[in-house]
Amino acid sequence: MLSLNNAFSVQEVEAFDQRACEALKCSHLEYSVEPKFDGLAINLRYEDGHLVQAATRGDGSTGEDVTQNVRTISSIPLLLPGLQPKIVEIRGEVLIYKKDFLALNQRQRARGQKEFANPRNAAAGSLRQLDPRITAERPLRFMAYGVGDVLPPIPVATHSELLDWFATIRIPVSQNRMTVHGANGLLGAFSQFDQMRAALPYEIDGVVYKLNQFSAQQQLGYVSRAPRFALAHKFQAPEATTQVLGIDFQVGRTGAVTPVARLGPVSVGGVTVTNATLHNEEEMKRKDVRIGDFVSVRRAGDVIPEIVRVLHESRPADVVSVSMPKHCPECGSVIVRPAGEAVARCTGGPICPAQRRQSLVHFASRRAMNIDGLGDRIVDQLVTAGVVKTPADLYFLQEQDLLSLERFGKKSAENLLRAIESSKKSTLSRLIFALGIRNVGETTARDLARHFGSLDQLMNATLDQLLEVHDVGPVVAESLLEYFAKDSNRNIVERLTAGGVEPTHEAPQVDSPASRFSGQTFVLTGTFPTLTRAEAKSLIEQHGGTVTGSVSAKTKYVVAGEDPGSKLEKAHALNIPVISEKQLLELVN
Ligand code: IVH
Repeated sequence: MLSLNNAFSVQEVEAFDQRACEALKCSHLEYSVEPKFDGLAINLRYEDGHLVQAATRGDGSTGEDVTQNVRTISSIPLLLPGLQPKIVEIRGEVLIYKKDFLALNQRQRARGQKEFANPRNAAAGSLRQLDPRITAERPLRFMAYGVGDVLPPIPVATHSELLDWFATIRIPVSQNRMTVHGANGLLGAFSQFDQMRAALPYEIDGVVYKLNQFSAQQQLGYVSRAPRFALAHKFQAPEATTQVLGIDFQVGRTGAVTPVARLGPVSVGGVTVTNATLHNEEEMKRKDVRIGDFVSVRRAGDVIPEIVRVLHESRPADVVSVSMPKHCPECGSVIVRPAGEAVARCTGGPICPAQRRQSLVHFASRRAMNIDGLGDRIVDQLVTAGVVKTPADLYFLQEQDLLSLERFGKKSAENLLRAIESSKKSTLSRLIFALGIRNVGETTARDLARHFGSLDQLMNATLDQLLEVHDVGPVVAESLLEYFAKDSNRNIVERLTAGGVEPTHEAPQVDSPASRFSGQTFVLTGTFPTLTRAEAKSLIEQHGGTVTGSVSAKTKYVVAGEDPGSKLEKAHALNIPVISEKQLLELVN
């Protein structure tokens, strides 16, 4: 399941439309506009009309199975009416209506139970209940906005027709969906949604624009995890005013030192905020934030709170300026900020307990090794007690080590050890991402895993070999070489293996058509029996691949038809696999 690129301004929306027009060589494109629901994404899989599986988005490839809980949501049909495709995956958002949310919190209060911060948190919490009977008591609803796998294809050519089709098979869709033309049409729809927002029964945090024609969507394709044919235009995040009580400096896993403002607690869009990031030294200076200032804060992208501006007109006389420290507040090592870089870094490396803690938190996080229960607090305890210094140490922990820690009972120790044990079978791409190598995010980690197939191969790769990987340029390659040049890091990798970490090979990407060829480059040559060149290109791009004009060491496959040109010879010379149109279609299916 993919994500969406965000826009916050008129210019960004105009640029989106212009890019689409240029790519498709036409003007006044047709778009479908619908609300950006503020809930939790799920995928509903129907086979022969029966709901067989419901899963959360998770990391986009692997989510949580929430089938039993979803079965309790009355607006989701367990059986689709009429004769339906053999397989259809319906994607949408689970949410709670505003009025139901108020009633739910009232009930929670009456029962002496914790209230929810907002409808989205309530929806997420309700869906993740271990006991479906509790989910059944919660007023969850569903709104559909797209499809995943469909077999055989459904006879619709546009997104708006797809939404209409959903309505005919009793799948809930928003009543407020529109089709518009061009950037002006998009912006007009945005204003309409902005005006009706308060009156809508559910919360939305923006509007989603999608090119209406599926054929046009396919032509535009995807970049990384987001489609080029869609855009989320977000409403301005709610702001609130509070006072800066202090400015701390937090050290991240790569040593980056971030100024963080400690704030008087304030509710921003239903969530209490007590900290806000100031990003870096320049940003702190630019905004001229001082201790004692009154500031306007918002949750950027609705997650990390940030200071929008200082209310200079109400600056108290006794405010105190703060500047970047020269030494790390955690380990005392020198802090450096290389010329031309925005980020200052602690040079302590693994001796810095903050870097160690943050590396471990990252290692265990949901998108990395997904070690349930190993969050900030426990990592802090493990590092302070000195029982864990590197991620590899986790795999040598004994129950006794945990029992000696405060607030650790036998049950919690067993749970944590079990979670660590099951992470041993994580995927290679998660493990590479978990190592926290600079400039290696999830997508790069996945490309590296697919290309090298083992940590050993990756660890011993040369610069040239690294550069062969799709989307790996000199910066990423350099980061990798630097990381694996350090004995301490090689040691961690060796000890991970010694501790029993045996990552599985990447599962073939069958969940999302967009990612099947992700990171793979194709070259087309000759005439194909059934597809035109443009169709073959769009098919590959639709599945996340790239088509280029010339064969190089980075080419994954050359697809050859009748009368192939010199590209075929080049493919043979470079030992690049050559496949037929039939084989291409087999790969897709
Ligand atoms: S389409 C191909 N449409 O936004 C693009 N997403 O930022 C896939 N979301 O995880 C998403 N309302 O859960 C789409 N009308 C809408 C949406 C929507 C909310 C969520 C979705 C996704 C996130 C991406």
